[in-house]
Formats: sequence, structure tokens, C-alpha cells
Amino acid sequence: MQQSVESKVPVNMRDNWRTPRFVFEHLQKALETEFLCDLAADIHNSHCDRYFSAEKSALSHDWPIGTSFCNPPFTRKVDFVRRAVEQQARGAFSVFVLPVDLVQKYTQEHIAKHATAVLVPACRISYIKPETGETATSAPFESYVVVFGGARPGNVDHVPFIWVPGLGYEP
Ligand SMILES: C[S@@+](CC[C@H](N)C(=O)[O-])C[C@H]1O[C@@H](n2cnc3c(N)ncnc32)[C@H](O)[C@@H]1O
Repeated sequence: MQQSVESKVPVNMRDNWRTPRFVFEHLQKALETEFLCDLAADIHNSHCDRYFSAEKSALSHDWPIGTSFCNPPFTRKVDFVRRAVEQQARGAFSVFVLPVDLVQKYTQEHIAKHATAVLVPACRISYIKPETGETATSAPFESYVVVFGGARPGNVDHVPFIWVPGLGYEP
């Protein structure tokens, strides 16, 4: 029987951890792109001028054509990934920071079949606590970066794993 491991971190905190700015900037450089929109944000934590939020949901609006950034709310990550696959088909590409859930159904159904690349940071990303703005000493899980769209859109049999040495460390 499959057992789920319940996190002790309250949902509102798990859903709101922020991405360090240097990770966002490093990804723009590594992928040679400028993110058009932060797909999961609010007015205080958006990395871009343009963003979707709990009120103007990325799950019910079309995403801009081009490449956007997303660190989804933890409890909605599967919905966001499913939506990324739908939006990829219309040319709205996205770059996700996600927990590494390799044996989960959504990874196999959506990421393995539709992602165009997976970037692997050199270490765990330390997220920023939403309530204090402090960087957490260590995340209790590993993260990776999943790219939907770009050079090789559509179904792929093999998703390249690209190890990115500088990504987990602040320069
Ligand atoms: C993990 S935080 C990411 C914060 C910030 N954009 C970053 O990357 O550092 C997820 C954010 O998504 C917002 N959010 C929740 N539901 C959403 C939805 N349906 N559409 C867009 N954003 C949503 C939350 O309010 C929260 O600010």
C-alpha cells in the first residue's frame, strides 16, 4: 500500500515559499531568455511586472505567448503542470521550479512525455520564507527545473537531463 508522508509545514507557508532572485536570473541566462510573466505570484513576490495570482488564476487564463517562469503553489503543482502542457500546445512556454517527484504519476504522465528539458541544480535550492523574507537554511526536498516548450516542443521519448553547476549556489 502506498503511504503518503504528510508535511508538518502549514499549507499557506508551503504554497508561498519564494524563489531566490539569483535562481530566476541564472535561469534566464542559462536558457538565453527573458521571462515574460510570473505564472504563480502576488503583488509582493512576483519576479516579473506581469503575473498571475490566486485572484487572476493561471489555471483559468491563457498564458502569454513566449516563455514564462513558475514556482507553483506546492498544493497545486499537479494542476499547474497539467496546465503547462495545455498551454505549451498554443506556444506559451514555461520554466518550472518543482520538487523532484520522479515516481509520481503526474511526473510520468506530463513531465516525462511533454517536457523539453530538465535542468538539475548542483544542490538543494534554499527557498525564501514568505513571512520573514529570510532564506531557509535547507529545503527538506530536492528541486529541479522543468522546461515546457522551446526548441523541441511536443511529445518526446527522451527528456534530456542537464546538470547546471552554478544553479543551486548563490554566486
Ligand atoms: C511558491 S509561491 C511563488 C512566489 C514567487 N512568484 C516566486 O517564485 O518566488 C506561489 C504563489 O502563487 C500564488 N497562487 C496561488 N494560486 C494561484 C493561481 N491559481 N494562479 C496564480 N498564482 C497563484 C500564491 O499566492 C503564491 O504567491
